[in-house]
Amino acid sequence: MARTFFVGGNFKMNGTLESTKSIVEKLNSAPLASDAEVVISPSFPYLAAAKSIITAKNISVAAQNSADRPNGAFTGEVSVAQIKDVGADWVIIGHSERRTIIKESDELIADKTKYALDNGLKVILCIGETFEEKQANKTLEVCERQLSAVISKISDWTNVVVAYEPVWAIGTGLAATPEDAQNIHADLRKFLSEKLGKSVADSLRIIYGGSVNGANATSFKDKADVDGFLVGGASLKPEFIDIVNSRQ
Ligand code: G3P
Repeated sequence: MARTFFVGGNFKMNGTLESTKSIVEKLNSAPLASDAEVVISPSFPYLAAAKSIITAKNISVAAQNSADRPNGAFTGEVSVAQIKDVGADWVIIGHSERRTIIKESDELIADKTKYALDNGLKVILCIGETFEEKQANKTLEVCERQLSAVISKISDWTNVVVAYEPVWAIGTGLAATPEDAQNIHADLRKFLSEKLGKSVADSLRIIYGGSVNGANATSFKDKADVDGFLVGGASLKPEFIDIVNSRQ
């Protein structure tokens, strides 16, 4: 099963209007691998501007969060309809920073995922264990629990990409080794196959996130179950282009 290489760029709560436009302009003029699917995720205020200047055909835009309900009295939140209104096709849901800092539960993340999919957004669903959970050999237990909450709510995974992001690798410069990432991705795919069926699991992209950069991206090249990356810090830098081209 050939799965399209997928690279997400999570800008997080960083940047300005000018810096965001500058990144998009550099991506537009870069020699990007045409067979890579690229999704950049600026902060909400810059989504429309980023979308309006993208010229490369294989680049889309994602929001970094979305509400689990329609427009209305939900101060401070942003709806799926509003995200689509500015031209974004994707949304990142369940990022570990929203699980640990904002305290979003597995249940809320599942509800957000269902609502986004049911209303026309594609979802990058983030899972991953903390350092303490890794030390306690609970990596798979945690990831399966996080996935199970979503499995209980949705049956169509066509528009979902799963991002395995070990919390201990995010922003630390300490990426998981390609071998460890491959082993965990393979275990996750096996779990998804048991729950959703082999064809769904085989077509689902499972991407890795956590200290991916221009220097280490190629080392994941031959890992069959690592279908791409969700990049944080390096997505704000020119090396993001090297990451997109790392399968060439
Ligand atoms: O969502 C991707 C992000 O959490 C990874 O961050 O800076 O380790 O690439 P970083």
